[in-house]
Amino acid sequence: MRWREAGSLGVPGHPGLALWALLLLLLLLLLPALTPAHAAWWFMSQLSASYTSTRVHCKNIPGLVRRQRVLCNRHPDAMMAVTEGAVQGVRHCQKQFQDARWNCSTIPRDASVFGRHVLKTGTRESAFVYSINSAGVVHAVTRACSRGAITNCACDLTKKGTDRDWTGQFTWGGCSDNIRYGTAFARKFIDARDRGQRDSRALMNLHNNRAGRKGVRKKMRLECKCHGVSGSCTVRTCWQTLAPFGATARWLKGRYDEATEVSMLPSGEGLVPRFGEHEAPRKKDLVYLESSPDYCLADSSYGFTGTGGRQCNVTSRGPDGCDLLCCGRGYDTHRRLITTKCECKFQWCCSVDCKTCESWRDLHFCKPWEDAAKSTASSL
Ligand SMILES: *[C@@H]1O[C@H](CO)[C@@H](O)[C@H](O)[C@H]1NC(C)=O
Ligand SMILES: *[C@@H]1O[C@H](CO)[C@@H](O)[C@H](O)[C@H]1NC(C)=O
Repeated sequence: MRWREAGSLGVPGHPGLALWALLLLLLLLLLPALTPAHAAWWFMSQLSASYTSTRVHCKNIPGLVRRQRVLCNRHPDAMMAVTEGAVQGVRHCQKQFQDARWNCSTIPRDASVFGRHVLKTGTRESAFVYSINSAGVVHAVTRACSRGAITNCACDLTKKGTDRDWTGQFTWGGCSDNIRYGTAFARKFIDARDRGQRDSRALMNLHNNRAGRKGVRKKMRLECKCHGVSGSCTVRTCWQTLAPFGATARWLKGRYDEATEVSMLPSGEGLVPRFGEHEAPRKKDLVYLESSPDYCLADSSYGFTGTGGRQCNVTSRGPDGCDLLCCGRGYDTHRRLITTKCECKFQWCCSVDCKTCESWRDLHFCKPWEDAAKSTASSL
């Protein structure tokens, strides 16, 4: 019976052929979904808000491994927070690196999001991306939990009784942010791809994911309410609360600046500093396996844009200065008419009146560069 049905697909006399063709087609369609080598879970940050506002469609997200898909189906409410966390991670990565040659830019509709190099090469930048996205998820899931947006999690009520901080004694109360739930969920979901793998890159990712989680916990702070005679604050009720994510992002940028180059022990048991004189990386440190390219040239095959065309600052000696940003290749100067508000006067009462002033200003842009991938291709 089955043969007949398949035969009706239009290859009379060769029903088996049609079936095989169909199978082959299905296999070809499924193949990219089975091997998401250039995709990462943080592709969720690129899905539009309308797509994720009601429910995350787990099967349509490239880059999730099987274990992640299971978690995705099981915890749709937490997945909304994971998406928020990834968006937050990307935004703050770009903020921290806005002056640098590598500026954490994303590639539209690319499943690797930041370019393949972040997934393929174990650089410092890659370490930062893993840690900040991991931190973003801890932060967002913890926050969602306190809001009551996640079914099986609530405020951290394990903190009870009295405690002390540097100003004295207080009583735990209110709703402490449940960082333990956020941390546990982020770990289960994000580490799923690398857990149990024995290669150096997996160890690197796991280490940096953990540093990201630590970065959120480290920045938590105590918030208190005073009771007692006319606000004298003799009696305090306190709870633990998350800091704005920017605090964690800045902290992780500091870890990036001091990241340790490591290699894997021959036994495969762990990572040790590449250069003997360095101290063993602590849990909060970022680690990387290979040195970074200079990011001067665009390389479309790896997904970075190069610094050609970037605006630079002629007077700055920092990374945004024209010398460093343009890699010594020089810059073009464009005179632009800039409009600003000026001569503002306070009017009684209560408004501020300003004039619009125009002035010419010189803006500087790095000279354009050729694409490294294209130029090697054309010279072949
Ligand atoms: C990063 O730099 C490129 C140019 O090299 C620019 O097109 C892009 O908008 C920048 N991205 C961000 C997030 O600033
Ligand atoms: C350029 O750099 C100088 C020195 O760091 C700084 O004072 C100035 O505000 C910068 N200019 C712009 C346009 O960012």
